[in-house]
Amino acid sequence: MPNVTVIGAQWGDEGKGKIVDWLATRADVVVRFQGGHNAGHTLVVGDKTYKLSLLPSGIVTGTLSLVGNGVVLDPWALKSEIERLEGQGVAITPDNFGIADNCPLILPVHGELDVMREAAAGKGKIGTTGRGIGPAYEDKVGRRAIRVCDLSHLDELEPQLDRLCAHHDALRAGFGEPTIDRAELLAKLREIAPFVLQYAQPVWKRLNEVKKAGAKILFEGAQGVLLDVDHGTYPFVTSSNTVSGTVASGSGMGPGAAGFVLGIVKAYTTRVGSGPFPTELEDETGQRLGERGHEFGTVTARKRRCGWFDAALVKQTCAISGVTGIALTKIDVLDGFDKIKICTGYTLDGEPIDYLPANAQDQARLEPAYEEIDGWEGTTVGARSWADLPAQAIKYIRRIEELIECPVASVSTSPEREDTILVRDPFAD
Ligand code: GDP
Ligand code: IMO
Ligand code: MG
Repeated sequence: MPNVTVIGAQWGDEGKGKIVDWLATRADVVVRFQGGHNAGHTLVVGDKTYKLSLLPSGIVTGTLSLVGNGVVLDPWALKSEIERLEGQGVAITPDNFGIADNCPLILPVHGELDVMREAAAGKGKIGTTGRGIGPAYEDKVGRRAIRVCDLSHLDELEPQLDRLCAHHDALRAGFGEPTIDRAELLAKLREIAPFVLQYAQPVWKRLNEVKKAGAKILFEGAQGVLLDVDHGTYPFVTSSNTVSGTVASGSGMGPGAAGFVLGIVKAYTTRVGSGPFPTELEDETGQRLGERGHEFGTVTARKRRCGWFDAALVKQTCAISGVTGIALTKIDVLDGFDKIKICTGYTLDGEPIDYLPANAQDQARLEPAYEEIDGWEGTTVGARSWADLPAQAIKYIRRIEELIECPVASVSTSPEREDTILVRDPFAD
């Protein structure tokens, strides 16, 4: 199976967009299979920077890009993203872009509920992106979602609207908010429907057809394994499964579709939003990582929390997600550090522990155990082969491989598409 699945192996923002864009020229199709416009993927090509949230990163190279049924789709966000990208010269047409007709919609009521809940949660807030992701997935599982295919049946929407409103009106009353204005919602859906429907199609069918024709499929994950609703730092997670196995249910292909699972791993650790983060550095070193790495969110512009590389966590996420090889990104951000620390495990209440326990309070009490290595002189910025890397940087990479028990398939050395060292071509397997 010559397919490749790209997933984040930490808390998101590992550089998935850059790697997907880099691999996209070798793929026939790029597919998003979970998440929504909570994702923020930045691509740098020459003097242009593209910021994508919902569109698969393959769109920039003009590769056929599909949004699978596992995604939650905000039609208005989609329209403004497409208009923005078209403004940058990217062609987005029904020939190179498609949306699964069974994709659930994010409605204005979802964003409102997301924000109201977060405001009410006080200290217990998740720190969501406020994009309505959680409420939209809840409605999907609760069987009251309005889906892309319903946009061509708006005159028959009453039973579904009854189900949706019965649920949301009660919740809204609890927040002192008025009930859903059905006429207004229908009018909005009617207005946006033709725009969305021009791209709608049975993506499962399209994918199975291209597969038979021998196409190489590149699956683009959003978020990261530690934000997975089952395997992440629950409840401080997103509302979808971000692991590689979601490719099957989120696109409509069998479980073998994932192919080579490329885990994207940042050479240090970041997290945006609330929740445990054992190696977080709330000092000058953390500040320095954030500044050198430009660690500000693409979606919400929030400052990302920064810390040392956590090998125990990445070993765990690689195991959970069946990672074949990793793409190590942002190694250049560590240029110039005298000493670099790597977390190899933890102690919990004085007892050693070599994995992330499931309970949030236990996670918050973990004390990281570090080993320290010397930094390197010189720079890794823009390196495109091992020969361009300082010996000590190679040592750091090799040590990471050893600790996470997973090989490095590529190393990224700047935001630029071509500044990447290829060790093993994931499409060649
Ligand atoms: P994603 O959500 O996983 O796609 O990652 P983001 O795009 O949110 O964040 C990664 C940021 O790091 C983006 O601004 C990228 O342009 C940038 N980036 C990606 N790879 C590298 C790299 O190897 N070095 C540096 N310095 N920046 C990188
Ligand atoms: P990419 O694809 C980093 C985080 C939010 C919050 C939690 C839940 O760019 O890596 P949500 O709005 O999904 O209900 O928020 O998940 N989060 C991300 N953090 N990168 C992302 O995407 C994220 N998408 C969601 O900050 O902590
Ligand atoms: Mg991001």
